[in-house]
Amino acid sequence: MSDVDAQKRASGEAAAELAESGMVVGLGTGSTAAWFVKALAARKLDVTCVCTSVATADLAAGLGLRIAELGETREIDLTVDGADEIGPGLSLIKGGGAALLREKLVWEASKRCVVIADAAKQVPLLGKFPLPIEVVAFGHKTTQLRLCDALAECDIGVAPRLRMKDGAPVLTDGGNVIYDAACGRIEDPAALAAALKSVTGVVDHGLFLDLADLALVGTVDGVIRLEP
Ligand code: A5P
Repeated sequence: MSDVDAQKRASGEAAAELAESGMVVGLGTGSTAAWFVKALAARKLDVTCVCTSVATADLAAGLGLRIAELGETREIDLTVDGADEIGPGLSLIKGGGAALLREKLVWEASKRCVVIADAAKQVPLLGKFPLPIEVVAFGHKTTQLRLCDALAECDIGVAPRLRMKDGAPVLTDGGNVIYDAACGRIEDPAALAAALKSVTGVVDHGLFLDLADLALVGTVDGVIRLEP
């Protein structure tokens, strides 16, 4: 196992220790969240899980975890999920796995959100990782033009690129497309978040601000805790 994978695994296993029987637990998406799901299942607790993607639901069901739809349970006690970047104040970029909308819906329905990651995800300023933006498929090329304007208003002069795989646009679990904006430096994440949300056709974006309560980051020296 690579060092990075070992750090992801350690952070996922540390987060699994936060779960208790009787909890409703939100399950994130991605390779780090998968370690959490495996560690949670191994604990054999009596928990009900709400999943942020079809892929995670498949993994969790295969491991014997009880799954419910978002809104079918009482409030989620604890959600654990990965991130593409962890910036100041636990501001995050998420959505590298194209699950950002369901992730944000689950995070916002949770009492406590814990982000897990390897050490390379921690950055002094958000923006090196291209910011995923989920866009309604209908007319997405015209939405992209208005996205460029919204980014320019925030002094970010880039054209977001349609995410492709095997020659076709990547579709999210909700049937939307993803544009990735290589911002470089996001000096004012709150202003950018507001500007992007104001564009008709944008469903949501990968800036997760004021949502994470705790980060558990795997490092060469073990798992460290970060608070906002
Ligand atoms: C999924 O859409 C993302 O938000 C992931 O949580 C993020 O991309 C981190 O993925 P890894 O844990 O695979 O790095």
